[in-house]
Amino acid sequence: RAQDAAAGEKDFVVCRSCHQIGPTAKNAVGPVLNGVVGRKAGTIPGFSYSEANRNSGLTWTPEELDKYLTSPQTVVPRTKMIFPGIKDETKRKNIIAFLEQYGPD
Ligand code: HEM
Repeated sequence: RAQDAAAGEKDFVVCRSCHQIGPTAKNAVGPVLNGVVGRKAGTIPGFSYSEANRNSGLTWTPEELDKYLTSPQTVVPRTKMIFPGIKDETKRKNIIAFLEQYGPD
């Protein structure tokens, strides 16, 4: 929902230290997140992923993203996303709604 996405934009502030999103986004500490929802893990062009992420076999469905954002290291052991996770379920859902607004192009 649009309302959730607007809240998610605010919660996404903790992600912005490493990730860019939107029309002018570039890979940084983390990969660009445009089009990440529904995408196979480790496939954003031009980003140097960890082997753990690249070989995870995951697809970033909203359900999988919800688990990952709860505890990245649990879902992808040895990922180089060094982030403790978001414990608040509403915040995770809102962030995912925000990410869903951005397609691959
Ligand atoms: C990877 C989302 C916070 C650094 C990823 C991926 C997602 C994601 C979906 C997987 C991308 C893919 O497989 O193509 C988020 C969200 C965040 C967040 C929504 C906030 C809630 C952070 C922070 C950092 C970071 C704070 C840096 C301290 C990275 C790195 C990767 C990554 C380095 C690549 C992981 C690897 O290759 O193992 N992030 N992230 N992320 N993120 Fe984040």
